[in-house]
Amino acid sequence: MAATVAFFFFAAILAAAAAGGGDAALVEHTFIVSQVRLNRLCNDTLVTVVNGQLPGPTIEVREGDSVVVHVINKSPHGLTIHWHGVKLQLNCWADGAGMITQCPIRPNNNFTYRFDIVEQEGTLWWHAHVASLRATIHGALIIRPRPGPSSYPFPKPEKEIPIVIGEWWEMDLVELDMRLRNGNLFDVPRAATINGQTGDLYNCSGAIKESNILNVEHGKTYLLRIVNAALNSEYYLKIAGHKFTVVGADANYVKPYTTDVITIAPGETVDALLVTDAHPGGRYYMIAMAYQPPKPAKQFPLFLSRGIVQYYDNNASPRKEEEALPNTPMAPEMPDQHDAVPSFYFYGNLTSLQPHPLPTIVDERLFYALDAGYFCREGGSSCQNVSNIVATINNVSFQLPETTPLLQAHYYNNMKSGIGTLPDGSPRMFNYSMSLAPTSKATSVRKLRYNTTVEIVFQSPVIADSYSNPMHLHGHDFFVLAQGFGKFDEKKDVKTYNLVDPPVRNTVHVPIYGWAAIRFVTKNPGVWYLHCHYGHHSSTGMAVALVVENGPTLDTTLPPPPADFPSCDNYISMLANE
Ligand code: C2O
Repeated sequence: MAATVAFFFFAAILAAAAAGGGDAALVEHTFIVSQVRLNRLCNDTLVTVVNGQLPGPTIEVREGDSVVVHVINKSPHGLTIHWHGVKLQLNCWADGAGMITQCPIRPNNNFTYRFDIVEQEGTLWWHAHVASLRATIHGALIIRPRPGPSSYPFPKPEKEIPIVIGEWWEMDLVELDMRLRNGNLFDVPRAATINGQTGDLYNCSGAIKESNILNVEHGKTYLLRIVNAALNSEYYLKIAGHKFTVVGADANYVKPYTTDVITIAPGETVDALLVTDAHPGGRYYMIAMAYQPPKPAKQFPLFLSRGIVQYYDNNASPRKEEEALPNTPMAPEMPDQHDAVPSFYFYGNLTSLQPHPLPTIVDERLFYALDAGYFCREGGSSCQNVSNIVATINNVSFQLPETTPLLQAHYYNNMKSGIGTLPDGSPRMFNYSMSLAPTSKATSVRKLRYNTTVEIVFQSPVIADSYSNPMHLHGHDFFVLAQGFGKFDEKKDVKTYNLVDPPVRNTVHVPIYGWAAIRFVTKNPGVWYLHCHYGHHSSTGMAVALVVENGPTLDTTLPPPPADFPSCDNYISMLANE
């Protein structure tokens, strides 16, 4: 079925009250979710997408606008849509985190999300937040400065171009999620994609129509709005013969940072200026290449998508034969796929555009060890049949509740048995051997009072078989104070904290073999999911729900849920075909 997009852009008056500004608008979209067959790698594959598109529609707003999205679920799966990085002040109900804030929208049902965009500028994105459906249900959310004297803190770009890095899976994504929860952590996609295209390197491809083509004019500045929507990997992005100037990340401005390689982990966004100053007749590959942890980690094929940046010149006189440039685009030299150093430098070089007044008194200090553990097939803890390797925080593997979303349970004061408190520190202090430890499952939360300054140190494993972890917190931005390799050592590492102009993000990349520290203040009551943005980590339990209590006044209290809020009685059965 050919899907249609309804797109209305109303006059200011309608939404002025909601957003508090004279120029605010209401931006309205209709998302029709359905299954379509898309042809990639010479196969037709059935995928679940929004409005027939991959990536889905881009939502474009100005800071201060209100957004209304009508989701019409014509797919066979229950689903939710999450507005990744939107701060949703007093609006946790609109967060769209399946079974954390809401029940999935059933097949053949609708739900309307309403939220405001306040004090955020740059690129965010939206994605499905049930099972692994976000691999095909996602799109960019672009927030421009509101009209008036304030504008971009950099030269106005000629054009703005979304670059959505993703993966092409031939496996059914709901089945993928079931397999992950059964301990199959090593399913992999078929290919990497740029804006939904696999590029010309894959088998049976080689066709230009499978590459993302970027036509540019010589001597201009373009703003690339880059999103990593992949489930599995952190990516390196390069364009032959060009440099990037990074100006934003996670819809927060950063001090302009010039680099030839961008690192972007799942969940993250990067805004980068591209100056087209290379030879105007040339063609240049844009390459997105997946990083993978070195051995002894299990090795996967190299995932790499190639797009092309090509110059056009309206005034050019036709080139003479001898001057013709080779047709083959120039290729950038990529980092080694196992080399984490360019990534570490990239993150380490980001600072906020403006210094920030940082809260200095920390009320709650949490240490979250990000790891993996196992369950035994036959139950118990010393077993012959180790199966179900799962991801953990502080040796607890998070389980989604099956009937009542946590936010509802919290709001109606009904947090029942089965919901535990995640310990504030790790039970095993990271001297481990390579062997995995037995673990436990729980729906674990951490309660926090309103207006609490929280510091979290995240620790990736420091053993040989390690991995990085992009940890995302819903509904909040936080300061990224520092990162380091090795085991976090409070005495020496606290001295490396950037308390002047730390980058402000919604996702922190905890390096492989290393740690990262963040700080934020709880000013938004509700239940906010905190999880690794790798699909194989979040689906198997590297998560916790932060429960932020109400403040003392009406305007620091979470209002009641919308009247038409979906309900559910069994989450697992809602995922599959009715
Ligand atoms: Cu972008 Cu909970 O996710």
